[in-house]
Amino acid sequence: MTIEVLTESIEAQLLDAALKGMTNARILWGFRVGAAVLGDDNGIYEGCNVESEVAGLGVCAERNAIDHAVVHGSTKIRAVGVVADHPSIESLTPCGACRQYIKEFADGNIWIVMAMAKSGSIQRSTKLKRKISEMLPYPYRTNAFSAQKTLQDLVQQ
Ligand code: THU
Repeated sequence: MTIEVLTESIEAQLLDAALKGMTNARILWGFRVGAAVLGDDNGIYEGCNVESEVAGLGVCAERNAIDHAVVHGSTKIRAVGVVADHPSIESLTPCGACRQYIKEFADGNIWIVMAMAKSGSIQRSTKLKRKISEMLPYPYRTNAFSAQKTLQDLVQQ
């Protein structure tokens, strides 16, 4: 079910998990980013960015966190937290690809909470909260793949 009001408690849990995820980021050329999602099973799944030696490979923290939820059987997400800690970041908001991915997995018009971190702590004054529809007003959408295929479905085809 969609969360209309993101409570202080969920927000803090998401940002703390994102901070924890950020410590495992694999950095070759960029900076650390951490993310966490609240799954439809009410679990919190963290993620980090993973950079690759091959340009164009690697993954952002947000998509990594969503994939982490999927690995645990949670296929819808109810909220997202994102953190980063680097002086060169002008605006810490999910990139376009991550917005599309968040939208695809979102259980309704979900909240995204973003904050900068410093020395392992969230900088409260940098906290920003936005809904996915505001961050991605015209998402690519199709109903062609609406039903998730189970292994059984595929065997029966
Ligand atoms: N990055 C993320 O993890 N999330 C975003 O939404 C934007 C960028 C990562 C990708 C790369 O590893 C590093 O931040 C620098 O761009």
